[in-house]
Amino acid sequence: MLHRIEPGSLWQATVPQRAYPTLQGDEAADVLIVGAGLTGLTAAALLARAGKQVIVIDRRDLGSGVTSGTTAHITAILDTRFHQIANDFGSEGAKLAAQSHLDAIEQIAGLVSDYGIDCEFLRVPGCLYTESDRDIDMLHRELDVMLRAGLPVSGLSEVGLPFPIKYAIEVGNQAMFNPLKYLYGLADAISGQGVTIYENTAVGDVKEEDGRVWAAVEGGSVSAGALIYATHIPPGLKPVDTQVAPYRSYVIACKTDHQYPVGLFWDTARPYNYIRTYHDGEQTWLIVGGKDHKTGQEADTESAYQALERTIREHFQLRTIEYRWSAQVYEPVDGLAYIGVEPGAERIYYATGYAGNGMTYANVAARLLTDLILDRPNPYAELYSPSRFKPAASITDFVAENVNAAARLIGDRLAEDAEVYGEIANSEGKIIRVNGEQVAAYRDPHGVLHRLSAVCPHMKCIVHWNTAEKTWDCPCHGARYTATGEWIEGPAKHGLTKAE
Ligand SMILES: Cc1cc2nc3c(=O)[nH]c(=O)nc-3n(C[C@H](O)[C@H](O)[C@H](O)COP(=O)(O)OP(=O)(O)OC[C@H]3O[C@@H](n4cnc5c(N)ncnc54)[C@H](O)[C@@H]3O)c2cc1C
Ligand code: FES
Repeated sequence: MLHRIEPGSLWQATVPQRAYPTLQGDEAADVLIVGAGLTGLTAAALLARAGKQVIVIDRRDLGSGVTSGTTAHITAILDTRFHQIANDFGSEGAKLAAQSHLDAIEQIAGLVSDYGIDCEFLRVPGCLYTESDRDIDMLHRELDVMLRAGLPVSGLSEVGLPFPIKYAIEVGNQAMFNPLKYLYGLADAISGQGVTIYENTAVGDVKEEDGRVWAAVEGGSVSAGALIYATHIPPGLKPVDTQVAPYRSYVIACKTDHQYPVGLFWDTARPYNYIRTYHDGEQTWLIVGGKDHKTGQEADTESAYQALERTIREHFQLRTIEYRWSAQVYEPVDGLAYIGVEPGAERIYYATGYAGNGMTYANVAARLLTDLILDRPNPYAELYSPSRFKPAASITDFVAENVNAAARLIGDRLAEDAEVYGEIANSEGKIIRVNGEQVAAYRDPHGVLHRLSAVCPHMKCIVHWNTAEKTWDCPCHGARYTATGEWIEGPAKHGLTKAE
């Protein structure tokens, strides 16, 4: 009999959800935080500790964003190689970047300990390894720059994985945890202690007036001294849309009877694969991710899962594959996250462009934004400022990512599509051209056809059908919608509209 693989993350399937109310009426706070993922709740904890009254609002359930889809490698090994950071931000910039992520690991450890959060937090080594001769020189160079940046690194030829490697960089004292146990534990600890949490409440238009920020929410409003968009990418049309690019990444969680090394692992393949174990009572889990591609630009997303499963079976011995999921990262064009005050605003802040390092970046952001709001100095403010401009670092990726978005905006409109509604199978979606309009047509499992405008409300690119997740994904800035058009994530402010 075929083993049934559940969609959704291991964490979502196994950690009981919390419930918080929706917001009704008008409220006021010192700080309004939009988004109850790791960034939002960590910032709320730090601000409340500093005596601020904080309201946190999430459009969906607490922790239902990318934090529920992470693999929770807590590390200072960044997706952007340190030799690149040193090249583009100077050796001082590389040192600051390294230190900010080491600080973040200690901050998580401190919060786990202070609040007594039961989340299987464990100190482990992190290993960046290569199976290819081609990348050995690059890793030697990287080791040298990481050492000079102050990271506790060493070079190894063996890391205990069940396949041969050519070389590895090991960083000591990294960490891992169960991200939803941590997030819910943090919410339990801070809720009512200076922090009020609302969920299933969308924050709409926001304006700065009379020295305060005013936010319209479904069913009411909030006025606050400052607002933080902890929404993974801030909503609406913002210059940062051109500074970050959305990618989907795929994860499979398997039960195994074998003992694999307890640690965090990444290879140097492009896109890279990432590995960790998780021990849940008696059960050992192997969690492997990778096969990233630009959101909305892979015709057959099911093939990404198949390729990942092949990679896992080639390298490991599994009992069963239990869960599989995909989630989104925003890659910054110059290699570092954007954290700080929104350019042109006084009291509105955001944090985005974490790539695959959001566990630590969320903590860097929470500390940095808390310091900015409290008017305290922070050593990382300039490095991560959204107003920075690093032409040497960003120009190639900036041009490539924005030419790609522009090509999708124009090219997808010109595409001929001769298919008809009758060809859409149950549980499938297709873009159909009707009288010059692009219609996102989805036939549900009962055979009912749903017709939506395929025009993404953010900047009017044409959405694409995601075969594996059964969603409409925008190839330009990563807005995603359910098969029937409701907003899931990304910079759009609302869902797809019904087709005329
Ligand atoms: C497959 C995968 C694996 C990863 N693995 C790692 C890893 O091993 N280590 C690591 O460091 N990082 C990893 N990351 C990255 C990391 O998971 C994320 O960067 C991090 O979880 C982002 O947290 P966040 O709080 O900023 O965003 P989210 O968790 O996405 O939270 C944002 C919240 O804002 C809410 N929201 C959005 N708009 C509104 C609105 N208008 N009104 C109200 N609420 C709104 C959303 O509903 C959501 O709950 C991974 C990412 C992926 C995709
Ligand atoms: S997310 Fe920007 S156009 Fe769709």
